[in-house]
Amino acid sequence: MTTVAFFNNRGRVGTTSLVYHLAWMLRELGRRVIAADLDPQANLTGMFLDETGLERLWRDGNRGTIDEGVAPLFEGAGDIVESPQVEEIGERIGLLMGDLALSRREDELSTQWPKCLDGDRRAFRVTTAFARLVARAGRRFDADLALLDVGPNLGAINRAALVASDCVVIPLAPDLFSLQGLRNVGPTLRDWRRAWKERAGRKPQGLDIELPTGDMKPLGYVIMRHSIRLSRPVQTYGRWIDRMPSEYAEAVTQDGLPSAPAEQDPNCLAHLKDYRSLMPMAQEANRPMFLLRPAHGAIGAHQQAVLECYTDFRNLAGELLGRLDSGRALPPGARPPSL
Ligand SMILES: Nc1ncnc2c1ncn2[C@@H]1O[C@H](COP(=O)(O)OP(=O)(O)O)[C@@H](O)[C@H]1O
Ligand SMILES: [Mg+2]
Repeated sequence: MTTVAFFNNRGRVGTTSLVYHLAWMLRELGRRVIAADLDPQANLTGMFLDETGLERLWRDGNRGTIDEGVAPLFEGAGDIVESPQVEEIGERIGLLMGDLALSRREDELSTQWPKCLDGDRRAFRVTTAFARLVARAGRRFDADLALLDVGPNLGAINRAALVASDCVVIPLAPDLFSLQGLRNVGPTLRDWRRAWKERAGRKPQGLDIELPTGDMKPLGYVIMRHSIRLSRPVQTYGRWIDRMPSEYAEAVTQDGLPSAPAEQDPNCLAHLKDYRSLMPMAQEANRPMFLLRPAHGAIGAHQQAVLECYTDFRNLAGELLGRLDSGRALPPGARPPSL
């Protein structure tokens, strides 16, 4: 299983929507996917669960969430649960449900991080709690991929989430703050990667846990055109988009400044547009935008928009898989749906 984190230091760029739609599209392409909601805001869980699912979560007092999975360890009564609950969202998508209570784990994760350098056993268990939970869930679900949705900050929860990831995708909105976020994310990823490798080398003898690689390899960025500042004139987007290739190269890959514009930049995985009313329609129907049907309100011009959305996400998923699988061909048969 390959684990991919979706991460930016800027909120509201569309990270959670991206993870949600990619999980569905990867499933369309025949892959088995675990979506892990590691943002204590739990928006991904809110997108995946229908009213019945949310009611059950409420009634059961958040039973089966990621926080419940790590609670025994954090509360000093053993380790993470043996068999984390994977909520089946239709065929081939499993959700590790988020939880607002996750935010309480920030302090303990901060405290234990430096102690890994002393070879402290508990420090290793706590720091790798999310990584091990996702790996266990992935094995249980027989997943090909795990997609991690993380919140927009550089705190200890996110560090532990990134330690769990093999690769990272950075969603970017075409605005100043999103680009500034890159200047934090790039150096932070390098720092976390280096610091984790150093710690991993100090794992105490006899500690019987599997350590994640914590490679955090940057796979590229996705331009989220919808943006938070929709009221701005269209040309102002262009200005920020033009700066993305060089800002990304400078802050994240550090492999020289590409001269290509964003459309030809090898680091640009996709350019997603503002799907406008498809998004609220999808939320209402509790399914991805590209699987909306007339029965969900996708009629008239919306039908064409649904097909375009399918193509956009299929191309993005294909690009992602191509990079992950080093060019392994996509399975045949994944065609835009006929409405
Ligand atoms: N491509 C898109 N087209 C239209 N609306 C979008 C798109 N992507 C995200 N949104 C909307 O933007 C808001 C923020 O998206 P969200 O995925 O929650 O961002 P983040 O996880 O970065 O905070 C949500 O209301 C979502 O419905
Ligand atoms: Mg989010």
